Formats: sequence, C-alpha cells, structure tokens
Amino acid sequence: MSAQDYLTDLFSLEGRVALVTGGSSGIGKAIATALAKAGAKVVVVARGREALAATVTGLTGQGCQAAWVSADLGSRDGIRAGAEAAAEAFGEPDILVSSAGINLRPPMGEIDESVWDTTMTVNLESPFLLGQRFGPGMAERGFGRIIHVTSQQAHRAFVQSGAYGVSKGALESLARSQAEAWSPHGVTCNTLVPGFVMTPLNERLASDPEQVAALAARTMTGRNGLAEDFAGAAVFLASRASAYVTGQSIFVDGGLSVH
Ligand SMILES: NC(=O)c1ccc[n+]([C@@H]2O[C@H](COP(=O)([O-])OP(=O)(O)OC[C@H]3O[C@@H](n4cnc5c(N)ncnc54)[C@H](OP(=O)(O)O)[C@@H]3O)[C@@H](O)[C@H]2O)c1
Repeated sequence: MSAQDYLTDLFSLEGRVALVTGGSSGIGKAIATALAKAGAKVVVVARGREALAATVTGLTGQGCQAAWVSADLGSRDGIRAGAEAAAEAFGEPDILVSSAGINLRPPMGEIDESVWDTTMTVNLESPFLLGQRFGPGMAERGFGRIIHVTSQQAHRAFVQSGAYGVSKGALESLARSQAEAWSPHGVTCNTLVPGFVMTPLNERLASDPEQVAALAARTMTGRNGLAEDFAGAAVFLASRASAYVTGQSIFVDGGLSVH
C-alpha cells in the first residue's frame, strides 16, 4: 500500500456529509474548509448570507462541494429550521460540528436574563438540539462524528468567563453524554478547546496589543492561535482514524492550558 493510500484510508472524508455551524467565519470556516478539502460535502450554517455565500464560493472555487443555509441559532425554531434546510443540501450529515458561538462579555454583575438566554441558546442548546436531530440517525447508520468547539473557560475562569464560560462548561458535559449514548454505535463525540485565536469573535480583545502579547506569552509556542490551527485536529476527529477517541477534550491551544 502506498503512503498516499494509507493516509487516504485513515483520514479521507470522501463520501461523508458534514454540517458546520458558524462555518462562515473564524474557526468554523477553517474547519469547514479542512473537511471539504479532505473530501466531505459541507453545509455551512450561520446568519449572515454574504459571508456564507463567500465561504461557499471560495470552497467550490477550490473544487470542493459545499452549500450554505442561513439560520438564526439563537432560537429553538431557528435551530430546527436550520437543521432541516441543512439536511436538504446533501442528505443527513455524518459529521456535525458546532462552532457557532457568541461571547457577550458583560461583567458578571451585569449579566441579565436576555444575555444568559441568548448565550445558552446559541452556545449550548443549538449543539444539543442538532445532536438530538442527527445523533440517532448516525447511530442507526453505524457511523457519526460530533465535534463541539468549546473554550478554556469550560475548564477555568479566564478573561471574564461570565455566562459564556457556563455555556462552554455545559457543552463539555453534553459531549460526554452524547459520547456515552452513541459511541457503542460508531458515533464519537469530542470537543476542540481553543486558546486565544485571532478571529472576529475577539475583535475587542485583539485591539489591545499589550493583552494580545500577554496572552501569547502564556502559551508554550509563544504565539496566539490561528483558525487554520484547527484543520488537522478537525479532520482527525471527523475521520475513521479517531474511531477509538470519544468523550475527549482536545486542546488546540499552543500549550496555554498546561503552562
Ligand atoms: N476565537 C477564540 O479565541 C475562541 C476561543 C475559545 C473558543 N472559541 C469558540 O470557537 C467558536 C468559533 O469562534 P470564532 O472565534 O471562530 O468566532 P467568529 O469568527 O465570530 O465566528 C462565529 C460564527 O458563529 C456564527 N453565529 C454567531 N451567532 C449565531 C447565531 N445566532 N446563529 C447562527 N450562527 C451564529 C457567526 O455567523 P453570523 O454572525 O453570520 O451568524 C460565525 O459564523 C465559538 O464557539 C467560540 O466560542 C473561540
């Protein structure tokens, strides 16, 4: 067997369908791109149509198969409608990536119910409801990969975790519950845990060079993350190669969490 055939056997996503929420920006876009380049047909789901269309045009321009669905994952109806529309593009997904997320960052004492509700709906309820919609089908077909993008704040208080940290902590638990339920049927569920990644989510923090440098110094690699740093881990977790990896948190953070 050639090296190329060996790698294809382990990692190719040819014939798979992937749904990536938040696939129009930052980490989600990098993951959608990686999965598509590895052979999957990818549906990206977010609100903004322009960024969605640009993402898909970029992917199809590189010979990939991709489609987009505009949906607001900030409401249960939006999540349900988005799931159905996404499944129409290429059929039921084999790979479900939840990267859509918001971090509203008011100080703890000023978090009101609306900030709490919106944060929990986008960051936690969407991965839950999408899992309920697609997990059982994956289990029935005997193959599935569920990947949630969480945060350092799922594991420690860090740069004002607030409601965001709570949602991400619960998302780690959701991953373990989903793994427990569906791993016996070939469906793994894991999380990717970023450090500080330079994306639109962090625009406010990223505009303070001192804080950016201080965060880079906390890593072991000496730099902050880039969205593209998630490509390899995402393909691994989506592929056959990770069949025995489930219920885990994979830190893609330059060593930040262990420094
Ligand atoms: N960047 C970091 O340092 C960092 C660190 C730890 C964890 N994370 C996590 O990584 C994930 C991706 O973050 P990122 O940095 O890549 O952020 P980003 O560039 O701001 O991307 C967020 C994505 O989520 C979508 N989204 C937001 N609200 C939505 C809603 N209500 N309905 C549907 N889609 C929605 C956005 O599209 P629309 O706005 O068009 O809807 C966009 O595609 C998030 O879960 C975040 O919590 C990021």
